[in-house]
Amino acid sequence: YTLLGCLSALMVSPSMASGSLWNMTPGVTEISQQVFGLHMTIFYICCVIALLVFGVMIYSLIRHRHSKGVTPANFHESTKVEIAWTVVPFLILIGMAVPATSTLIAMEDPSDAELTVQITGSQWKWHYQYFGHDVGFYSLMSTTQEQIENQAEKGANYLLEVDKPLVIPANRKVRFLMTSDDVIHSWWVPAFAVKKDANPGFINEAWTKVTTPGTYRGQCAELCGKDHGFMPVVVEVLPEAEFDAWLVEQKQMANAAADAEAASLGQVLTLDESMALGEQIYIGRCAACHQPNGMGLPGVFPAIKASPVALGDIGAHIDIVANGKPGTAMQAFAAQLSLKELAAVVTYQRNAFDNNTGDVVQAAD
Ligand code: CUA
Repeated sequence: YTLLGCLSALMVSPSMASGSLWNMTPGVTEISQQVFGLHMTIFYICCVIALLVFGVMIYSLIRHRHSKGVTPANFHESTKVEIAWTVVPFLILIGMAVPATSTLIAMEDPSDAELTVQITGSQWKWHYQYFGHDVGFYSLMSTTQEQIENQAEKGANYLLEVDKPLVIPANRKVRFLMTSDDVIHSWWVPAFAVKKDANPGFINEAWTKVTTPGTYRGQCAELCGKDHGFMPVVVEVLPEAEFDAWLVEQKQMANAAADAEAASLGQVLTLDESMALGEQIYIGRCAACHQPNGMGLPGVFPAIKASPVALGDIGAHIDIVANGKPGTAMQAFAAQLSLKELAAVVTYQRNAFDNNTGDVVQAAD
């Protein structure tokens, strides 16, 4: 590490100081810049040590390469040398530990936050809930498989986009409470120096205070199943006033959605309308595991087509889609879909594939 590090530092040193493709990002928070500073300090200490050690070694190899027949020095114990090689590394380690510890303590202190967001990971999306504001939404990857393949063909790096990014204000301390619905995920945004596991049944805390508005990206950093690589994190940091306006707008939208939900209770869709809406939801939510053709992934995710659930009691079918199936990867969709959408997707599942039942569910039911 030190040798490679030295070589690359010698080659790209000027750009490394400010962060480059070769290096970690200094980021946009005080903490991330402290972490970057620590990284560089320790990196340069390693470089000096490596230069000294390899310098002496290479010098000795070259200088004494012809010293055949010379008897090597033969001594046992040297108190001075032993004290030196104990004390010097000890002091170096203390010198590294002091600033590292103070940064670690600051990273773990979410007190005095002005906003709290609960982040829940689930296979394979993030759920953001703003405490005390009745605002919450799911953030799903919106880049399609086709777009990914097109990019891959061109050999280009592609950015995975989401339908709704997490939105937070600049210059305010934001606390994150991390947890998970299913398996262990990890919410990671390098520019904030935040990487925290989201564990089921447990809450981890983290925080950030971003100085520069903008869009920042990260990724789930804990292997969490089939689509782990497609669980991007996108964070939109808005200037404070814009964030306040956004939050008000979100509340209004939530109220409007609740009104629409109430209105949809009495609404009766035709079978075609229900199928069209259901297909859209099926492709967006269900097809990731159960396949667009309803065949599932044998041994992992059951088929919808000709499944006992889709052919059986309609109430049991609705229950599984709405409330999930404990002990399996099947999630509860009641909080993610409106009643109309739930009815439509169940109708679609019972009609879209062969061996269908022809059952139609209405939100009114
Ligand atoms: Cu979620 Cu990996």
